[in-house]
Order: sequence, then structure tokens, then C-alpha cells
Amino acid sequence: MEIGIVGTGRVARGLARRWIGCGWNVTFGSRDPEARRAELVDALAPAQDEEPDGGLEGSRRGEVRCRTIGECLTSAPIQLLALPWSAIETTMAGLRFVPATIVVDCINPLRRDLAGRDVPSDSSTLALLSGRYPEARWVKAFNCASSAVLEEPAFPQGRPSMPYCGNDADACRTAVRLIEGAGFEPIDCGGADAAPWLETVALLTIRMAIRNGWKGDCAVRWERR
Ligand SMILES: NC(=O)c1ccc[n+]([C@@H]2O[C@H](COP(=O)([O-])OP(=O)(O)OC[C@H]3O[C@@H](n4cnc5c(N)ncnc54)[C@H](OP(=O)(O)O)[C@@H]3O)[C@@H](O)[C@H]2O)c1
Repeated sequence: MEIGIVGTGRVARGLARRWIGCGWNVTFGSRDPEARRAELVDALAPAQDEEPDGGLEGSRRGEVRCRTIGECLTSAPIQLLALPWSAIETTMAGLRFVPATIVVDCINPLRRDLAGRDVPSDSSTLALLSGRYPEARWVKAFNCASSAVLEEPAFPQGRPSMPYCGNDADACRTAVRLIEGAGFEPIDCGGADAAPWLETVALLTIRMAIRNGWKGDCAVRWERR
């Protein structure tokens, strides 16, 4: 699978690590790819114990590239938009998605004081982005775990849950593969109208983590019986 990731921050790196471990190729899109390239290679270099032969040769890890954001958008039919909400307008200025690209929105539009979301209460980043970029097929996922958990999702109790929602069936199927590949249990939340609630789950989780001193080492897991 070929995946573009717009952004090179914590979420981008954490998920890239999981996906290249699946043998999927990742192209990062950066405002400054020359400056980011070396640090990404360092950050994503496998630990010795991840490599059965102690090296890359013969392993099935995916390839990693770092390009401009414009190049990233044309590099793969699946894109993760991993930018801060406040940066979308300027960073994506003049850029469009290749028609029919599947785009995963992992964004939490949180207010600085964490007192709520920085979008109208009846809306979501998914609704606003799909309105602004109707050429893409949108799905929301990966906003309900911290970057630390996205990078390392192992918990003694089992896989953490990862809710997703969207109106495009192909995009949702792709999200399921990406979520499974990242080590989470996909939870189908239906159409894009659920996106504000996914953002609220993230907000509540962050608030609980701060209040109870969990740092990033907590995740949502819905138990059933
Ligand atoms: N952190 C979490 O635990 C977490 C969890 C779930 C979801 N999210 C969501 O995931 C998205 C990314 O979060 P993150 O924590 O990965 O952010 P981050 O570490 O701050 O990284 C964001 C990346 O976006 C790029 N960027 C482009 N324009 C930018 C601008 N004007 N200002 C700052 N960065 C800019 C930067 O890459 P270049 O410099 O290479 O262009 C930067 O590395 C956010 O929308 C966040 O709400 C975060």
C-alpha cells in the first residue's frame, strides 16, 4: 500500500512507524522536506530488536520518503492529513487533492484552553474539510488516541479501540485496514455525522488524562459482553 502523510509531527511519525512495519510505503509531505529528511530517517530507523537479521536487508519494512506537500498529495491514493487545525488554511493554500483520493482526517480542533472544540458545535473538521475539498473521499479516524499510543498501541488488556466514521464506503474500508495495520481495533461509528462525537471523545480523553496524570499513556477501549 502507498500512503501519503501530510505533516511530519508526532502523529505522522507514530503512524508511519506502524505502517512501514506492515510493509507499506510512506511519503511524508513537509513544508521543508530537505530539513526533515534526516530526522525522519533517524526517527523511523528500526530498533535492533525489531529486525530479525539486525538490519534492513531482507526485511519487509516499507520505504520512507519525504517530499513537499504538493508532491506528497500526488504520491499516493491514500493520504493522512496530520496538520494542526489552525495550519490547514495557510499550509494547504493553493493545493488540492487528486480526485477520488481517500483522505483520513485525524484532526482534533481543540481550543488552546481545552475548554471545547474550535469548530461550531454542530460541525466537525470532517464536515468542514469535505466541504472545502469535495474532490477527496473523507473518513475520520486516529483522533481518539495520543501520539504515544499511536506509535506504540500495545496494552496488557488488548488492542485499544479506534472509532472511525465517514460517508464513503471505500474510504471507511481503507480506514479499517489502516487501523488494523496500526494495531487498533476498528469501531464502525457510521456516517460523517458522528465526527463531532469522535472529536468530543478525544477531548474528554485528554481532559481525563490531564486530570488523572495519565500523560499520553491511555487509550479508549470499549468492552462488550
Ligand atoms: N498529538 C496527539 O497526541 C494527537 C492525537 C490524535 C490526533 N492529533 C491531531 O493530529 C494532528 C497533528 O498533530 P501532531 O501532534 O502530530 O502535531 P505536531 O507534532 O505539531 O506536527 C504537526 C506537523 O504539521 C506540519 N505543519 C504544517 N504547517 C504547520 C504550521 N503552520 N504549524 C505547525 N506545524 C505545521 C509540521 O510538519 P513540517 O514542519 O514538516 O511541515 C508539523 O510537524 C493535529 O490536528 C492533532 O489535533 C494529535
